[in-house]
Amino acid sequence: MFTASHETLLWVRKDKKARHTFNYDAMRNGHFPDDFIKKPDKQMRSIWAIGTPKNGEKKYGKHPTQKPEALLERIILASSNEGDSVLDPFCGSATTGVAAIRHNRKFVGIDLEKEYLDKFAIPRIKDELVRKNSPLSNTKPLHVNEEHVVYGCCHNS
Ligand SMILES: C[S@@+](CC[C@H](N)C(=O)[O-])C[C@H]1O[C@@H](n2cnc3c(N)ncnc32)[C@H](O)[C@@H]1O
Repeated sequence: MFTASHETLLWVRKDKKARHTFNYDAMRNGHFPDDFIKKPDKQMRSIWAIGTPKNGEKKYGKHPTQKPEALLERIILASSNEGDSVLDPFCGSATTGVAAIRHNRKFVGIDLEKEYLDKFAIPRIKDELVRKNSPLSNTKPLHVNEEHVVYGCCHNS
């Protein structure tokens, strides 16, 4: 068998009238130096070349299916705006949360495994808040309840 090295992204909406966000300019003109498929001054194609998570992204250990930050950053930049809320109901190590906060979105994550939230998701989100010098990094920005929901948010200031 070939080694699986791709992800399939589904872009769905609840009904035909639902509005969606697609940030055309951010995808066409953004900076994606590691992606050999993306050509300058051409729109992003539907196939992206993104490597596996970089070493620093696994500093809290190995979540079995952790995604690269570059992948979630690109998805979030393409399909949401600053201040929007991003929900990841299968958040694992919260790569989505890291990317959301990095780009000034709010974040709610859920995972069946509380251990993943405690070991990976919360420390990673806290690191990102510190990196951004967010006032929330000194308060209690994150919370895990019995339903294994983690809340993170980010102020744009
Ligand atoms: C593919 S991983 C997500 C990886 C994540 N994107 C990351 O970068 O770390 C899927 C996650 O869904 C969680 N999961 C599986 N079934 C679930 C369920 N019914 N409700 C909530 N989380 C679930 C697993 O514990 C696992 O952490």
